[in-house]
Amino acid sequence: MAPGGAPARSFVAVVLAVVALSAIVAVAGTKKALSTVDVEEELDAARAAIRRAARQHRRGGGGDVGSSNWLRFYGGEADYDLLSRVYRNPAAFYRSYVEMERRFKVYVYEEGEPPILHEGPCKNIYTIEGRFIEQLELMSPSDAGGGVRTWDPTRAHAFFLPFSVSQMVKFVYRPPSQDRAPLRAIVADYVRVVAGRHPFWNRSAGADHFMLSCHDWGPYASRGQPELYTNAIRALCNANTSEGFRPGKDVSVPEINLYDGDMPRELLAQAPGLESRPLLAFFAGGRHGHVRDLLLRHWKGRDAATFPVYEYDLPAAGDYYSE
Ligand SMILES: *[C@@H]1O[C@H](CO)[C@@H](O)[C@H](O)[C@H]1NC(C)=O
Ligand SMILES: *[C@@H]1O[C@H](CO)[C@@H](O)[C@H](O)[C@H]1NC(C)=O
Repeated sequence: MAPGGAPARSFVAVVLAVVALSAIVAVAGTKKALSTVDVEEELDAARAAIRRAARQHRRGGGGDVGSSNWLRFYGGEADYDLLSRVYRNPAAFYRSYVEMERRFKVYVYEEGEPPILHEGPCKNIYTIEGRFIEQLELMSPSDAGGGVRTWDPTRAHAFFLPFSVSQMVKFVYRPPSQDRAPLRAIVADYVRVVAGRHPFWNRSAGADHFMLSCHDWGPYASRGQPELYTNAIRALCNANTSEGFRPGKDVSVPEINLYDGDMPRELLAQAPGLESRPLLAFFAGGRHGHVRDLLLRHWKGRDAATFPVYEYDLPAAGDYYSE
């Protein structure tokens, strides 16, 4: 998890960190011609710093990781040996996070109108979609110093397409047709507009652009534009390889069920220390797909102290937000 701060904010940071990593890898060499500030040089510097940290760690130096920086990153309680077993190269991971915080800038396209653009659900099971759009869009130029959003697209490392697939389903889809063509048409049209008005989409064929969707139909909607589907970074709650999710470029997004739209106290508080977080994992949900079936078969009722697994039946005493 991200260091410090309210979890809502950290969530945005974590998604962006993974987007940043995909962007760093995806688009070497595409930005030269258009940049005033040399974004390409910044990316080169970031890659070099990550490689340096990774090398140092492989030589056994520990790099940044042995330092107090890394300990703070993990809330001051990091166990170095444990981290080395969890991450292939914890130093590279940490350095890429630092580089993201220091440099990463996102440009949000301003084209389009609510409710389908620039707005998403902020309560219920698709919360993350609206919250992400809102938190990114509400960053004002006055936080520009520390914030990730830039209003100058020539300085951006990544470009956000602020559409909401959940809103498309709510306002455009006609149940019970199961016809998703209108969703694909909206996505295709939006990309056509921004690619026509700005030079950035064509420059990378979409590879430094990203979308986010928590709706199960996010992957289908992204099929509306072949470059979006194939090249762009898709941050999806439905991170199902059967729906075209590619772990090397796409980003898996967790789902939070915000019952009434208010952030509960438990999620706003500083994340508790590791010693009061004994659970390895937590699952509550239904049997969609064979992975969940296997999960429920192997883990339900097996070891509630390590990995509690429920179907839709959270125990009355259970507290979704603090579990
Ligand atoms: C990008 O490519 C599309 C398709 O070829 C074209 O219609 C559009 O005008 C191009 N955009 C720019 C800004 O040149
Ligand atoms: C994910 O994949 C499984 C297996 O192919 C499928 O049964 C399930 O419906 C998919 N889930 C979603 C949400 O697309």
